[in-house]
Amino acid sequence: MKDLLRQHTSLKEEIEILLNNQVKMEAEASSKYLAMASWCDRNGFKNSAAYFLRQSDEERAHMLKLFNYIMTVGGTAVAPEVGPVKQDFSSFRSVFEAALQSEISVTQSINRLVTASRTAEDYATENLMHWFVSEQVEEEDNARRALELFDVIGEEGTGLYHIDKAVNKISSGAGTAAN
Ligand code: FEO
Repeated sequence: MKDLLRQHTSLKEEIEILLNNQVKMEAEASSKYLAMASWCDRNGFKNSAAYFLRQSDEERAHMLKLFNYIMTVGGTAVAPEVGPVKQDFSSFRSVFEAALQSEISVTQSINRLVTASRTAEDYATENLMHWFVSEQVEEEDNARRALELFDVIGEEGTGLYHIDKAVNKISSGAGTAAN
């Protein structure tokens, strides 16, 4: 059945696998942000908790964008299984360091998908991935700006309180990449 279906789509199996891997990565990113939101909430950083909840929503939107694309082009979209997620962090700052590392890993994965789709002459997928390339520029920028607050404001005294307040001003960038 699978082979029969494949004759009716130009989506190559190797690209379908990479797209489904990316679906899983976005789902995991969404879950990671939930864990970050929870940590911030229980440690008194309410603005940062709200920020990470917004980021989690965005990652779910990314996952759905890929999931819907796979279905639209006649592939088999696989509902992602999310593995264990880090729930605890050693400090407020380390939460944002983990967020930036996660975004950099996503960017690298997106870049590999651009290369693979171009090599496979799958220009529809490459076109979709360009949206994600732009989105990742924003996401990494947000993560870096949040981390910079620790140096600009400083962690001494009421610093953490002010950092948490300033995080609230960071744009979530939701949907601002070219749709
Ligand atoms: Fe969808 Fe922030 O990676």
